[in-house]
Amino acid sequence: MATMESLIGLVNRIQRACTSLGDYGGDQQAFSSLWDALPSVAVVGGQSSGKSSVLESIVGRDFLPRGSGCPQYLMRPFPDSMSLGIVTRRPLVLQLQHTEEGQEEYAEFGHLPKKRFTDYFVNLTLIDLPGLTKVAVEGQPDSVVEDIENMVRSYVEKPNCIILAISPANQDIATSDAIKLSRDVDPSGERTFGVLTKLDLMDKGTNALEVLEGRSYRLQLPWVGIVNRSQADINKHVDMMAARRNEREYFATSPDYSHLASRMGSEYLAKLLSGHLESVIRARIPSITSLINKSIDELESELDHLGRPVAVDAGAQLYTILELCRAFDKIFKEHLDGGRPGGDR
Ligand code: GDP
Ligand code: NA
Ligand code: MG
Repeated sequence: MATMESLIGLVNRIQRACTSLGDYGGDQQAFSSLWDALPSVAVVGGQSSGKSSVLESIVGRDFLPRGSGCPQYLMRPFPDSMSLGIVTRRPLVLQLQHTEEGQEEYAEFGHLPKKRFTDYFVNLTLIDLPGLTKVAVEGQPDSVVEDIENMVRSYVEKPNCIILAISPANQDIATSDAIKLSRDVDPSGERTFGVLTKLDLMDKGTNALEVLEGRSYRLQLPWVGIVNRSQADINKHVDMMAARRNEREYFATSPDYSHLASRMGSEYLAKLLSGHLESVIRARIPSITSLINKSIDELESELDHLGRPVAVDAGAQLYTILELCRAFDKIFKEHLDGGRPGGDR
């Protein structure tokens, strides 16, 4: 178990290092296959479907830019150094990082590079993608709808991307952009979690049982219903812990959903995701290991042959990736090679 945890931690750190290498304009070619092989979690859905709220709630922290959504992503970069969305073609990548034993654990996010969060929930790489839209609004180029979809698609079509398909319960599931796109890239539904937000906003007298119990749209992974904070809650500064309490209470006392209460809500979704991610990594350890070995070779020769000066940061990043890959390989050889993956349990 401890071995799996360190491997998952290393997977996260390698992804993070690859990401920051991109920030220095380094040649990501060598690492794109490595990045692609490592599992990540992406949220997909229409504008204001609740994507950022779900991510925040999974992590158990307030940290994401929020609001009426897409125009922010499209028309201007986020304030400060946030490098998000179409503007830079880089969605928001959040990495929750466990550090060495004895050190404080922390998480850092691409848009808040100097800020460390020490109280978080899961060990995941999460990607907040821009919201899918149907029409270009005033001031946006006509191509915007397609540009967003293509960008989102480029992330979620990768077989190692776990999709959180976010659909608001107050809209008909048949109109869900999230389901439409995820069905396209994951037709068998093996890497898509259906997430139904805004259960509290449904028309009185209706409920979402058909969806939540998998009868409307079947996925291999479960559907999870969510009640996030409303805009009024946010205006009133309802904090995350209170929001989670309210969500638990909502499900526990709901005449429609109380029989499902133990399988609903953000905390349950976070647990499901962690468990799923661990099993994916476990199953992929052999292929991840061979890619990591290939990357070690490529990195060693790249670092050997770098006659031209490199930016200090990019060079340092290459070494970091090399060291992380070596560490992964070492743990694999010492604990797992020849044995069954996870044989240390
Ligand atoms: P995004 O654009 O998909 O990232 O959506 P956000 O997470 O920014 O949410 C959009 C708006 O919907 C915000 O005002 C949220 O407070 C609100 N919202 C999100 N989820 C829920 C929910 O489950 N219930 C209610 N009442 N409001 C929600
Ligand atoms: Na949607
Ligand atoms: Mg958002």
